[in-house]
Amino acid sequence: MARFRTYNEVLEPTGAKVPEQVRAQLERLARRFSAIRHTVIVASGKGGVGKSAISANLAAALAAEGRRVGAADADLNGPSLARMLAASTAPLAVSPNGVAPAVGVAGVRVVSMDLLLAADAPVRWRDPGHAGFVWQSTLETGALREFLADVDWGALDLLIVDAPPGTDKLQRLLSLVPRPSAVLLVTTPSETARHVVARSISLLRAAGVPRLALAANMAGYRCPACGRTEPLFAADGARRLAAATGVPLWAELPFDPAIAASTDVGRPIVLEPAGSPAADALRALTRRLLTELREVDP
Ligand SMILES: Nc1ncnc2c1ncn2[C@@H]1O[C@H](COP(=O)(O)OP(=O)(O)OP(=O)(O)O)[C@@H](O)[C@H]1O
Ligand SMILES: [Mg+2]
Repeated sequence: MARFRTYNEVLEPTGAKVPEQVRAQLERLARRFSAIRHTVIVASGKGGVGKSAISANLAAALAAEGRRVGAADADLNGPSLARMLAASTAPLAVSPNGVAPAVGVAGVRVVSMDLLLAADAPVRWRDPGHAGFVWQSTLETGALREFLADVDWGALDLLIVDAPPGTDKLQRLLSLVPRPSAVLLVTTPSETARHVVARSISLLRAAGVPRLALAANMAGYRCPACGRTEPLFAADGARRLAAATGVPLWAELPFDPAIAASTDVGRPIVLEPAGSPAADALRALTRRLLTELREVDP
């Protein structure tokens, strides 16, 4: 059976010099990352569990306390981070040092496919037609590498990377961000989420990521009428996952329509004054992250 060639085996006598370009980009990537103190990936494997909402809240909370924060939306097909952080949709400025990130709420520097596409336009990968799926993953990886390597992030205290759903995508992201300071795995109490996130944990452990943590999102719903908190899921999947794997559970975040409403309008709820249990829980998660990264005293 014919075998697909890797980048390094592609011979380009006419000039594209693919392997050299990729190598140069990877070198730029390494240089960029040397000016970033901590990269934190917010992932799951599971879709729709709140990765982007939590990424936006973490980034906003960190920036609001004066840290230099970048937010990279690694979800090329379903980009949502720019909107959640109210990053300007004006064309991104290009300088010799790369593309300037858009500036969002509290000064977060944001890059997202959303900033490059016209409203309502889907991402379309141009491919040769046959074996399009092979090209697609190559193009996606290339686009992501550009996102991270060709952006003039400047010096950052933290870069929050919002991962797309899918364990395979997580693996690809790790090939570009080989040494994240932490990977925060967002899950819900559901059993379905537990099974998917368990696979991500195996993958991340095999890749040697040093610091893994869990955040259980949508862990309960507080009835605004009676004030009682009720579980949203019948299961206790996040706690079971933490107990079975030894990955610490850093936060249990309530379901609160205000989280969705605030991210919808680009003003993450952590920017609101203390008092809302959801905002307080997200702020506590931010403190926990900083403590674990030894950026503040416990
Ligand atoms: N705790 C919560 N309470 C209420 N709404 C929430 C909560 N967490 C997330 N949401 C909302 O649920 C929706 C899905 O969340 P989000 O887009 O962050 O998930 P995701 O894991 O990033 O999804 P995808 O896998 O598609 O990237 C969003 O509208 C978000 O604002
Ligand atoms: Mg998302």
